[in-house]
Amino acid sequence: MTDFDVVIIGAGAAGLMCAIEAGKRGRKVLVIESTDTIAGKIRISGGGRCNFTNRDTNPKNFLSQNPHFCISALRRYTPADFIALVEQHGIAYHEKKLGQLFCDGKSLQIIDMLVRECEAVNVEIRTATHIEDIQKLDVGFKLYLGRDDVTCTALVVACGGKSIPKMGATGFGYQMARQFGHDIIPPEPALVPFTFQNEQLEKFKSLAGVSVEAEVRHGKTRFAEAILFTHRGLSGPAILQISSYWQPGEDITLDLAPGQDMAAYLTDLKKSQPKLELHNALAQVLPRRVAQFICSETMVNGRLADLSHQKLLAVAAHINTWTIRPNGTEGFRTAEVTRGGVDTRGISSKSFESEIIPGLYFIGEVLDVTGHLGGYNFQWAWASGHAAGQVV
Ligand code: FDA
Repeated sequence: MTDFDVVIIGAGAAGLMCAIEAGKRGRKVLVIESTDTIAGKIRISGGGRCNFTNRDTNPKNFLSQNPHFCISALRRYTPADFIALVEQHGIAYHEKKLGQLFCDGKSLQIIDMLVRECEAVNVEIRTATHIEDIQKLDVGFKLYLGRDDVTCTALVVACGGKSIPKMGATGFGYQMARQFGHDIIPPEPALVPFTFQNEQLEKFKSLAGVSVEAEVRHGKTRFAEAILFTHRGLSGPAILQISSYWQPGEDITLDLAPGQDMAAYLTDLKKSQPKLELHNALAQVLPRRVAQFICSETMVNGRLADLSHQKLLAVAAHINTWTIRPNGTEGFRTAEVTRGGVDTRGISSKSFESEIIPGLYFIGEVLDVTGHLGGYNFQWAWASGHAAGQVV
């Protein structure tokens, strides 16, 4: 039996940041990781270059049933703080777009940085370690680990959400939260591609691999970025973003030519170039395969001069306000994050301590705080881990 001040469950972004901060305060810290390697998601993130933060992080970039919860931690640990750490370790980075910061090299550099920081403050990390049971003591907790059981005063749950089960995502954090009396907002896949019914899918197949700059809308929420037609349905940044707001049975609206009034464009073109074929007119604005697709979807084609105003309006509507209903999503298998999770109304936004069980903390993705695509989810992991690390 070994006694620790702090045991952290999960060696991901949030858990490691919390370990570093607690270690800096002289706490004896153990991080328990169930898989063979630490920080698996950092390794694969950002296409292998880790979009480690977003310069423009703002509470508005996060979804939660309790939208104010994230404000305090995000204020106390900002993107500039994490950038300073990255620079201190000599890691080169660049802004790709929209404030998104990526490593110039591999995401492994971020993991190495976190490991070096952990080593500097004597944090112990045990991989391939399975928790058989957790018992609440009068003061603190006992964790049954098979061989060397451990006790701790503070127990931090940092085991992430349910996305990508083959990487070790288990939903264990929700189980623990329930065990200790916390409510769970139903966890659902987010930042995830949409799938479509067979008939719709057949049509999309002709477009597989085509990417279009579009605006995707769901109610009052809208994202203007690329969308990608795939063999399974729709993906790309704008689609992933809107998926976090979508519920089964709901429609989304695509504008394939954002900022361009297609009705006015086609009407003017009909006057100036009446002999122009519709698919060629559309191909001046859209990728050619999409232009052909729109013609076949609306069953309108031929020279602009021969097309009625009504037909042109129908084509324009199909481009500016194309309403479709996804059949579902690709699910946790490919979702970048989980929306929902431990209800933050039972957690302190200052310390991340449970308001039900003193000494129990929840940080990172396991909580009902979900960032937009673009480095926001890591910033939440760093900020929540940092906040808890100051008090555990
Ligand atoms: P995280 O999931 O990182 O860590 C939890 C850890 O706990 C894991 O190591 C897991 O194995 C472990 N664990 C689970 N159950 C356990 C148990 N019972 N006992 C012990 N350990 C257990 N975000 C971003 O901002 N920029 C990006 O570029 C990307 N890119 C990206 C790509 C892909 C493919 C995915 C899937 C996700 C992203 N993300 C992202 C999201 C980001 O990875 C995610 O939000 C953070 O990793 C969440 O950090 P946490 O530490 O909370 O959980």
